[in-house]
Parts: sequence; structure tokens; C-alpha cells
Amino acid sequence: MAPVVSGFSKLSKKDKIKWLAEHHFNNDQNAIDTLVTYWNSDNGLQQLHDEFTENTISNYYLPFSVAPNFLINDKRYTLPMTIEESSVVAAASKAAKFWQTRGGFKANVISTTKVGQVHFMYHGNTEKLNRFFNIIKPKLLAAVSHITQNMEKRGGGIQEIELRDKTTTIDNYYQLHCTFETVDAMGANFINSCLEEFAKTLVSEATSYTGFLETERNIEIVMSILSNYVPNCLVNASVSCAIDDLPSTQTLSSRQYAEKFVRAVRIAEIEPYRATTHNKGIMNGIDAVVLATGNDFRAIEAGVHAYASRDGKYTSLTHAEIKNDIFTFSIEVPLALGTVGGLTSLHPLVKLALQLLERPNAKRLMEITAVAGLAQNFAAINSLITTGIQQGHMKMHLMNILNQFKATEEEKQQLIKYFETNTVTHSEVVSQIEKIRNS
Ligand code: MEV
Repeated sequence: MAPVVSGFSKLSKKDKIKWLAEHHFNNDQNAIDTLVTYWNSDNGLQQLHDEFTENTISNYYLPFSVAPNFLINDKRYTLPMTIEESSVVAAASKAAKFWQTRGGFKANVISTTKVGQVHFMYHGNTEKLNRFFNIIKPKLLAAVSHITQNMEKRGGGIQEIELRDKTTTIDNYYQLHCTFETVDAMGANFINSCLEEFAKTLVSEATSYTGFLETERNIEIVMSILSNYVPNCLVNASVSCAIDDLPSTQTLSSRQYAEKFVRAVRIAEIEPYRATTHNKGIMNGIDAVVLATGNDFRAIEAGVHAYASRDGKYTSLTHAEIKNDIFTFSIEVPLALGTVGGLTSLHPLVKLALQLLERPNAKRLMEITAVAGLAQNFAAINSLITTGIQQGHMKMHLMNILNQFKATEEEKQQLIKYFETNTVTHSEVVSQIEKIRNS
């Protein structure tokens, strides 16, 4: 077991690695070399990455890929996607290509507001608290004017502050439930700064409020924090075409394909076990764009899954229907994204990703990202109801297995050719590698 270390964050990068090698890697030079191999030779760029977080010892690469041919609201996009899973980008590209000849994707932002809350305890009469709140509301707003000034210039700011009585759930528990518009910023820092200011003002005003008894003046702030549940930061995307324009297979006519597709989505709507995997596939597309554009994928994940269970049961984020022989497939998803602030102007690849998307504002990025989720879900369901998922997945995974076995270029070419007509399974790849190597 490694010993307790103090002052670790103050060690130089080399000394941190030395400490790790000594206590975790048996002084294995390979481990040290691996960490050092991933350092960037450009010192400025390396320093930038080092300073994103604390205790950075190396860089962790993920592929930065692109998926072209996305026609969204009649404009063509090439989507940046940061993801390690083999078949995701290929699936997105395939879906994009399919829908570009069928009118493309339509997307629109439904709403853009975000919420933050000051959670506090007040021991007293609720009516008095209500009166107090109405009196101090202008003071709460005034207390944050230095923070909101710039945001207001850009068209955002605080939309509403409500006092919410939560005492039926927890004794003496109340909230300031605040609604924000943060325009093109994700806005976490803006919201949290406003909330902490509200909390301070609430406490100080209560101390001197003559309408309270002495015991009522002592408001206890539990915490002030934004919510990643953003059901009112919502975007919708859809595709639709005549059912005759859908694919057909040897066993399915286009109509049967459409009906099977709708059934598959219906299952995800009513069955949480399926809904979770169905939505995971959607998040393959969404997270890849979220990561590439420097947004906080944990916040997005938390918000999306909370939204998927908003009616008390976890359900599908997408819906499909056939009406008058027209097939429509759509997604409605909350996405609190930003195109300014955070990593957007810091990380060179994020800047490039936003440039690739022609510098979208937050609303446009919400539309593009929702489309990535819908496209991914279309591709997954298309495979699931026809060939099954493994055929395409294992084809893409072949390269991973070959790399795992350190296949040479010649071996790779030979095996890629072989698996064009044979089913990829891990054991079959291994047996073919062995066969080549033993011959
Ligand atoms: C795999 O990453 C995602 C899928 O399982 C999604 C789905 O089942 O819809 C293919």
C-alpha cells in the first residue's frame, strides 16, 4: 500500500511521476516512459493542458473524429465527435448520409432557461417569511447587479426568484428557486456566483428584519448551487419521410421496416431495461459532440437521464410514429450547452471543433447535438431490427483486436480482407492471427 503523501500537488511533474513509480509501479521504467510518451513536445500547449486540472502527469488521448453529411435545417454540417467506441462515428455518418437525401434533420430549440437554488432552513412563521421575501427581492437582485451586468448586455440574466416552501418534505426547509437565462454560456459560474450572493443577502437581511422574532432571524443556508436538471433548456429534432423511402431487406418490406422500427422505439418507451440501453446509444452521439465542443458531459448526462425519468418512470428520449404513410422519428432532450466560456476558447481542438461547426451559438449547438443523438439512435435501431448490432460493431472492433495482438501492417491487410466475407468474433480473429503466424 502506498504511504500517505502530503504536499503532492506541490511536487514537480517529474517528481510526481517518480513518487508514483516508486509506490505504485515498482519503479518500472515502462510505466514512466508511457506517461512521458504522451507529453506534448510543445511546452506551451503542454502547460495549457497541465493547468486544466491539478496533479496532471500526462495527457489522455481520445480520438477526435468527424462525421460529414449532416443536413440540419437545410444547412450541411460536418460534426466533430470525440469518442473511443469503434462503431459510433461510422454509424452517425451512415445515418447522416441516409437522411440527407430525405429532407435532412429538422431541429428547434423549445426553451433555454436554467435553474439554481439556495437551500435554507428557517424556523418560524411561513407567512412572515413570504412577506420578508417580497420586501428583500429587489435587494437580492441589486446584490448581484455587478455579476449580471455583462450577462444582461448579452440578453441574459435572472428571470425569476421564487420562495418555495418545502416544509412538507423536510421540517423548516425552504428554497430560493431561481431561473436564469445564460445565452451562449453554459453559465455554471454565473449561476453559482449569483446564488452565493443571494444567500449572503438573505442571511444578512434576515438578521435585521424587524418583522421577525429573534428566533426567526437566524436563517441557516444549507447550500447554494445550480441544478443540472434543465427540463426548460430543451431542444427537439426530427426526421421524416414516406415509408416507401425507408430501407427494405430480404425479409422486411419498407412498411414492415417502419412498423418494426416503431415497435422497437415503443419497447424503449415502456421498458426501462431497454430504455437505458436505447438512451445510452443516443448519448454515444450526444456525448461525442459535447466532448468535442468542450462542454461538460457529466452535466449533460445527469440532466438527460433525470429528464428521461421526469414522469417517475425511466423512458425513451426518442419517439417514432407512422401517420398517413409518413414515418416520423424524433427526440426531445434537455441540453444546457455553451459556446463561450469554459474550455471553448482555451482548448485548441475545442476551438477547432466550433470552427468546424461555423461558430454556432448555444441554440445552434443544442440543435446539432440533439441531431447527433437522434442519428445515433436511428443507426442503432436500424441495425438492431435488421442485421443485429454485432456485425457492424465487430467489423469496427476488428482493428482493436488486431492492435491488441500487435498485428503488423501486412497481417492487418490480410485479416481485413478475410473478414470482409467472414463473421468477426474475438476467437476467430485470434485463430486467424495464429494461423498466419504459424504458417
Ligand atoms: C452501444 O454502445 C449502443 C447500443 O447498444 C444502443 C442500442 O442498443 O440502442 C447499440
